Amino acid sequence: MEDKKLVFSAIQPTGTFTLGNYIGAVRNWSPLQDEYNCLYCVADMHAITVKQDPTKLRQNSLAAYALLIACGIDPKKSILFIQSHVPTHALLNWVLCCNTQFGELSRMTQFKDKSQRHPDDINAGLFTYPSLMAADILAYNADFVPVGVDQKQHLELTRDIAQRFNQRYGDFFTLPEPLIFEVGAKIMSLQDPTKKMSKSDENPNACILILDDKDTIIRKFKRAVTDSEAVVAYREGKDGINNLMSIYSAVTGKDYASIESEFAGKGYGDFKLAVGEAVADNLAPIRTEFDRLMADKAYLKELYTEGAQKAFRISNKIVSKVYHKVGFVDR
Ligand code: TYM
Repeated sequence: MEDKKLVFSAIQPTGTFTLGNYIGAVRNWSPLQDEYNCLYCVADMHAITVKQDPTKLRQNSLAAYALLIACGIDPKKSILFIQSHVPTHALLNWVLCCNTQFGELSRMTQFKDKSQRHPDDINAGLFTYPSLMAADILAYNADFVPVGVDQKQHLELTRDIAQRFNQRYGDFFTLPEPLIFEVGAKIMSLQDPTKKMSKSDENPNACILILDDKDTIIRKFKRAVTDSEAVVAYREGKDGINNLMSIYSAVTGKDYASIESEFAGKGYGDFKLAVGEAVADNLAPIRTEFDRLMADKAYLKELYTEGAQKAFRISNKIVSKVYHKVGFVDR
């Protein structure tokens, strides 16, 4: 690897990506590939913290891998792999679990949310999820982690775990910094703009999936919940319009002031249609590229096999040092 700072990020393969995943995280990953050594991963081990259908999980993981390439991750520039193919994450996870406090994990809002949504399956993996996420990052001593705002708390915990390890065993881990891009760091539900857009939303109109076709995208935007004021302006109390404006700004590059003047005197109908069209046009090439990639599974296998080998080589060196530091007998 070249002597550059290291970027790591991951996404769970629980269904196709949402517009939130795309704008808040994935679309920011490809521009980092020239400046940094980048590792990106399909976090299938994280996905089983909630019940998954095994056949669907396998399909979704492969689709997520192809989607990341379709979104601009170049497997020749970045190391792109599937988490369960690289055993060092789980090996490091155990050591990190022993350096994570029960109280810290209990305070994680994602744990609280998910245990409320799945009261019949509050399993230990769901609870220790942030330690595995810390292992993903620390196994490579990553410098930067590009994520949406909802992952900030997990990143802070990762830094705390790394710091605690360093205090106990001597300076070793880099403290990773979150990279959160201002526009679109939290895309909200189209049906309840006070809630994050999420694929687990029961109302299919709440969420744009990046493989939705143009008609579906426009229909969902037309139904988006707004307010009764009929003024396109970014202001407190206008959660629905603010959300649409941040989506429009993210996909067109226009700032809020120019969006406001573009739609001055026009109604929400025109604005929603423009947002829908801009999003659909932005996503169209991703669908085409995704279909092309999914038609060649052998090629995908070649890529993810090579990605896992590279990721293992890097993380194995780091995890072996960690095992030595904590006092395990060298193999
Ligand atoms: P996940 O799979 O839920 O989401 C992937 C990325 O998408 C971002 N995101 C959003 N951004 C803006 N608006 C939204 N509505 C929205 N919804 C999701 C997330 O912030 C994330 O960056 N635990 C992680 C996956 C993970 C990971 C890691 C991330 C596993 N190991 C190590 C970074 C480093 C997760 O569940 O993301």
